Amino acid sequence: MSDTNQVPVTVLGLGMMGAALASAFVKNGNRTTVWNRSTEKADALVQQGAVLAPDVKDAIAASPVVVACVSTYDVLTELLSGAEDELRGKVVVNLTSGTPDEARSFAARAEEIGVRYLDGAVMAVPQLIGLEHALVFYAGSRELFAEHEELLKLLAGNSVHLGTDAGVAMIYDLGLLSLLWSTLAGYTHAVALVQAAGASAEAFTPFASTWLEHVISPALPQSAKEIDAGDFATEVASLDTNKAAIAHLVATNRQLGVENDFTAAIQALIERRVGQGFGAHSIASLVEAFKKS
Ligand SMILES: NC(=O)c1ccc[n+]([C@@H]2O[C@H](COP(=O)([O-])OP(=O)(O)OC[C@H]3O[C@@H](n4cnc5c(N)ncnc54)[C@H](OP(=O)(O)O)[C@@H]3O)[C@@H](O)[C@H]2O)c1
Repeated sequence: MSDTNQVPVTVLGLGMMGAALASAFVKNGNRTTVWNRSTEKADALVQQGAVLAPDVKDAIAASPVVVACVSTYDVLTELLSGAEDELRGKVVVNLTSGTPDEARSFAARAEEIGVRYLDGAVMAVPQLIGLEHALVFYAGSRELFAEHEELLKLLAGNSVHLGTDAGVAMIYDLGLLSLLWSTLAGYTHAVALVQAAGASAEAFTPFASTWLEHVISPALPQSAKEIDAGDFATEVASLDTNKAAIAHLVATNRQLGVENDFTAAIQALIERRVGQGFGAHSIASLVEAFKKS
């Protein structure tokens, strides 16, 4: 039995994610107190050994470490209001998603009332919680993270402290979500295109997976180097080449009756940079097109 088993933990919020977090602690043998607005969501956890607290104050009082995971920061702020006495001196690890500014305001308020606060962003689905490769970003006190790293790794083997700015976990979270939405939107657009030409999603998808693995993913480290160096000279493909290629996609979308908005937005970025005289640059230079003055 490791020392992490000895740390009693409270989990506030037993939605899909909160229940998975609580379950990881229960499975490890930690004394786990849980609270949720809809109490029936605690039933399965109580059967596994968790203790259901009658209210938020009792839940907080039960453990030195409180992990919170509800739908929004506003909900959590509301839940914790009036529980300042119980919270004072506790460690609060907030795995609720929001904006960087919400995280910073929450951290400032936590400091005012004497809470030791870590903000976190779960980059995993509930089914991955507890696994080695599950990723959670943390922001806040480096010392506090180090003190509880072993406990937090029960939730995700890949638990990473990013910095002391309380907003940084949410920034990385939103960055990865931007990548997720644009990649999956690109995939669904691609499927709509091939379907319009009579192919099935299943026939196309193995090529999409290979393309992501062998072409797109390996291009990212090189793009990062170019962006950080501000040097977009390329021997791969210029924006001029991409401008010509995306015009083929726009024409084919129209011909096959496929929605063009998604492609048109990317085309506009490429054309803006080419129009500004950067046609010889690599596609990584589109980072400049996203910067507002
Ligand atoms: N699910 C995922 O894959 C995933 C991945 C990464 C991050 N997250 C983040 O984790 C957080 C929770 O997500 P989830 O998937 O667990 O959502 P969920 O299943 O919808 O659960 C939402 C939780 O918030 C509680 N809640 C909502 N409004 C409330 C209120 N007014 N008062 C008290 N409690 C309230 C719910 O209580 P009731 O049960 O009583 O409604 C429930 O515990 C979100 O910020 C989400 O972005 C989720």
